[in-house]
Amino acid sequence: MSCFRRFMGVAAVVAAVSVGAGGAARAADPAAGKVVFHQQCAICHSDKPGVNKIGPSLFGVVGRHTGSEPGYDYSVANKNANLVWTPEVLNKYIADPQKVVPGTKMPYGGLHNATKRANLIAFLATLKK
Ligand code: HEC
Repeated sequence: MSCFRRFMGVAAVVAAVSVGAGGAARAADPAAGKVVFHQQCAICHSDKPGVNKIGPSLFGVVGRHTGSEPGYDYSVANKNANLVWTPEVLNKYIADPQKVVPGTKMPYGGLHNATKRANLIAFLATLKK
């Protein structure tokens, strides 16, 4: 019985967390995401088209195929990852790049705050023509 109660407790926590994450995604704030971009990504990535720095330009990244930014020298891992950068894939990648693209040369440990990730992805989605 106590075991069952513990299970129900865990299930309730899991449900609460997923509701929370969904809420954060709905309320995503691109202006707040721009701040996160400048704090976490801009040292290596430009938000301008065709400007590659240590990493490829992130202009137009949402919906782009992995490893397809012209003129950028990708690692074999990123080049051959064969993924599309949907918001869902980006959400997992930004949380833990090595998990989604094992062997990536992106030296970034991951952004663990789900609200910040949602805001950041909302900002990335504005980077298009
Ligand atoms: C210290 C430098 C550095 C930081 C900080 C960094 N990146 Fe990167 N990023 C890279 C490099 C280098 C690559 C190329 C990886 C490869 O070829 O393996 C890359 C690749 C990527 C890609 C794949 C692009 C493509 O065209 O396939 C995405 C998406 C990306 N980064 C997003 C981000 C985001 C969002 C942030 C901020 C949360 C961030 N990166 C922070 C260096 C960085």
